[in-house]
Amino acid sequence: MELYLDTANLEQIKEVAEMGIIRGVTTNPSLLAKEDPTVDFKQRIIEIHRLVGGHVSVEVISTDKDGMVREAEEIIEWFPEATIKIPMIPQGLAAVKELSARGIPTNVTLIFSATQAIAAQQAGASYVSIFLGRLDDIAYDGIAVLNDICEIWDVQGYDSLIIAASIRNPLHIVESARAGADIATVPYNVLMQSLKNPLTDIGLEKFIKDYDRYLTERQKSMLI
Ligand code: G3P
Repeated sequence: MELYLDTANLEQIKEVAEMGIIRGVTTNPSLLAKEDPTVDFKQRIIEIHRLVGGHVSVEVISTDKDGMVREAEEIIEWFPEATIKIPMIPQGLAAVKELSARGIPTNVTLIFSATQAIAAQQAGASYVSIFLGRLDDIAYDGIAVLNDICEIWDVQGYDSLIIAASIRNPLHIVESARAGADIATVPYNVLMQSLKNPLTDIGLEKFIKDYDRYLTERQKSMLI
């Protein structure tokens, strides 16, 4: 399973890309709306791609097929490597069908059930994004839905890549990997939290203290 960062924040992307642990970035209108509005959308997306060097999903905001296709054409014009993120609605499926026929990669977003995932796959989606946290929020089991979808993909040999999205905690990352998701797209704070373990910090502190003690002892022994 690959890790993507779920953000539009350039500082976060730069920091995590430098660690070499992410292969892509997913954005959405809500994430973009959190960022500085004086930075042009197009420039932000190009900069994100420069920083991460891999997958970048860019979401359309139209809700009709022609509008989505028009937006996708515009995005591809200034950023040819983009994957176009399309909402899981009937008009979105029609847009995915047309874009996939033209070889433009798509990521169908806002998927909450196996039937929606199957439909997106049939329409030609390159990626299907399953929203774990938002299912958990309404007392559905997001990981159980993801497990179902991964199992169906194995049985059927479907080729759309499965993205575990709406990740809210490190356990979601572990369970997504166990389920067999191809990608987990993770917010910055959850990803950083997932790297931490108190035993690592305690262990490092002890290594440094022990080495300092050794150096002090050594210096003392050389003075004798
Ligand atoms: O990738 C989709 C994700 O951004 C949604 O996350 O936390 O808003 O449900 P969340």
